[in-house]
Amino acid sequence: MIRPRDELRSIKPCEHGGGSRKLLSGGVLDFSANLNPYGPPSFVLDTIREAAADVRFYPDSDCSELRLQIAERLGCDPAQVLVAAGISQLIQLVALAFIRAQRRVLLVAHTYGEYEVAAKSMGAAVKKVGMPSLKIDAEALASEIREDDVVFLCNPNNPTGQYLQKDEVALLLETAARKGALLVLDEAYMDFVEGAFDTLRLAEELRARGRDAIEHLLLLRSFTKAFAVPGLRIGYAIGSERNISALRLVMPPWSVGTLAQRVGYVLMSDAASEFMKWSRKKISEAKRELEKEFRSRLGVEIETDANFYLLDVGVCGGGGGESESESGSATLIKEKLLERGILVRDCTSFGLPSHIRFSVRRGEENRMLVGALARIATP
Ligand SMILES: Cc1ncc(COP(=O)(O)O)c(C=O)c1O
Repeated sequence: MIRPRDELRSIKPCEHGGGSRKLLSGGVLDFSANLNPYGPPSFVLDTIREAAADVRFYPDSDCSELRLQIAERLGCDPAQVLVAAGISQLIQLVALAFIRAQRRVLLVAHTYGEYEVAAKSMGAAVKKVGMPSLKIDAEALASEIREDDVVFLCNPNNPTGQYLQKDEVALLLETAARKGALLVLDEAYMDFVEGAFDTLRLAEELRARGRDAIEHLLLLRSFTKAFAVPGLRIGYAIGSERNISALRLVMPPWSVGTLAQRVGYVLMSDAASEFMKWSRKKISEAKRELEKEFRSRLGVEIETDANFYLLDVGVCGGGGGESESESGSATLIKEKLLERGILVRDCTSFGLPSHIRFSVRRGEENRMLVGALARIATP
């Protein structure tokens, strides 16, 4: 009797933020999806309108124009780029091309859930490295890396918002190269970081010092969060020619639709960089104001390197004065906020049942979140 593979039994479906269109069109404010609150830029919608007539043709399976554009903007060879239907698809492709049954996949304790799903779907052994005080310790992670490991790391990390600095990523990459492992670096939120370093240049610097780092690095990038286009499904991977060819071999044809490719192209333009620069500045101002509001209204210090915050709800009223166990306090706060028209991410599925994650939105919306939390804390 044919039946699904045994490995699949250990998989717990991954939870995600992001309210449905139905919920959000009813007026609920979505703080759960970590999208740029100023996107999508108007030229995205113009491009979609202009490209609409082309849906009667098959898309270019190779995404040639966009691939060339990405390579030119990033200063790498086009053969080092693969365009796909978002980082979500790329994680699956990495699993198909690199993860072997019984071998190890290394993760940090609290991170994006799809890495574990992909690892387990291939029958790999998932090893999680602890995060004391919810921080990624690059040295501790590096000391765990062994030959043939696939290491998934998200920088900045979801849900903690921590951005590993250049020397920390250099240590991890150098270790992966020395030990013969693969570092898969998910940079979905990189565009929100002020003063982010260039990971591709880092790999080149390491090569100049004798380490063929690019063979041990796969960068995953996405347009989803930075430009607020989750409905398009578009992202790309950068790596060595050999590794990118391997991903291409296992990718289904026509994975990236015509509209997504055309939008991707304009999102690699100067206009898009300017939009992102402007957004970063606006979001940075909103973050400072939000942090001040949390301090003055809730007496809580919050910080992040990204465009979202992780909050221990125990420190601002837990369950609103009601008696409850530690586990599930995030679920309760999420429900209470939703009653007030605000959607946040309950972090229970990240292994953090007393934490919620919320993204930065525009000024007035952020004040509504703080006001709602303050009312819940002191009913
Ligand atoms: C860390 C991280 N990587 C990847 C994704 C998915 O990205 P994409 O929309 O490009 O598939 C998400 C979405 O929540 C994410 O948080």
